[in-house]
Amino acid sequence: MPSPLIARCAINSYPAITTHLRSLSIRPFTTTSTKQIRLFFPETQTKKIRITPPAWPHPIYTEEDMKKVGIAHRETRTFSDRVALATIRMLRSGFDLVSGYRHDQAVALHKKDPATAQQKYAMTEEKYLIRNIFLESIAGVPGMVGGMLRHLRSLRRMKRDNGWIETLLEESYNERMHLLTFLQMAEPGLFLRLLVLGAQGVFFNAFFIAYLVNPVICHRFVGYLEEEAVITYTREIADIEAGKLPKWENLQAPEIAVKYWNMPEGHRSMRDLLLYIRADEAKHREVNHTFGNLEWKEDPNPYVSVYRDEEKPHPTKGIENLKPTGWERKDVV
Ligand SMILES: [Fe+2]
Ligand SMILES: [Fe+2]
Repeated sequence: MPSPLIARCAINSYPAITTHLRSLSIRPFTTTSTKQIRLFFPETQTKKIRITPPAWPHPIYTEEDMKKVGIAHRETRTFSDRVALATIRMLRSGFDLVSGYRHDQAVALHKKDPATAQQKYAMTEEKYLIRNIFLESIAGVPGMVGGMLRHLRSLRRMKRDNGWIETLLEESYNERMHLLTFLQMAEPGLFLRLLVLGAQGVFFNAFFIAYLVNPVICHRFVGYLEEEAVITYTREIADIEAGKLPKWENLQAPEIAVKYWNMPEGHRSMRDLLLYIRADEAKHREVNHTFGNLEWKEDPNPYVSVYRDEEKPHPTKGIENLKPTGWERKDVV
């Protein structure tokens, strides 16, 4: 019997394409002219294949759990924590400067002169999309690098990996789904593409070397990066709720997102989509802070392990037992 996901996708397949094509003619945001818009990832149709489901089916999130997700910060405890946090703060302020994102200044000016603050700093749907596309293209790198290096280490040392590789690769897959989803709403221009290319060239190599030297700092770094991602998506959700992003108020999530997250009918708005994405970022935040707390050489991955006492809350793939600052080693291993 086919899985519910496969069955759903199979039923949806043809109508999905027509809806998709229709939706493209009213593609709401783009950085290029309508003439240049081309079909972004239409499902490839072949004679024999009916459907290609996602490699890693997404766990089901309940709306109640997604609404509980919030901003959190893990206090630094060690020197390497401070290095990781300082690097993230530096990268964030550099990127904010270049991209003209001034949240703190905007809030300060808004208290004195809301009209000027709005005119000078207001984030629009387009600005958020460009920011999301750039950041998601970077966010997909660490999991792949970590997974790849652990895979090579396992081959080289002829030892088991204890389950970390799949969680890391799954994380980068999930980040790529975030990117593909946002790309259904805006086609990046040449400048953004070059920026992504340049950033990837630098970031991939830097992270690769850093992970070879010290995986613990790297997971902490990703934990802090994901704290920032949760902050950004929380602001986007709050801006929709405050009526500051009118183009997103009635926008429906693209087909690719509806299928991947199994978004239930009536819960497929842009706001719902951002709730799913923010919950994913909160999951990455938890996973990477937890990995940063473990002995990377020998500890099993607590996210794929079976526990002696299954009744006691423990790490899972979903967000039902989410710990924003990660699980401590003594509680899981
Ligand atoms: Fe993401
Ligand atoms: Fe993430």
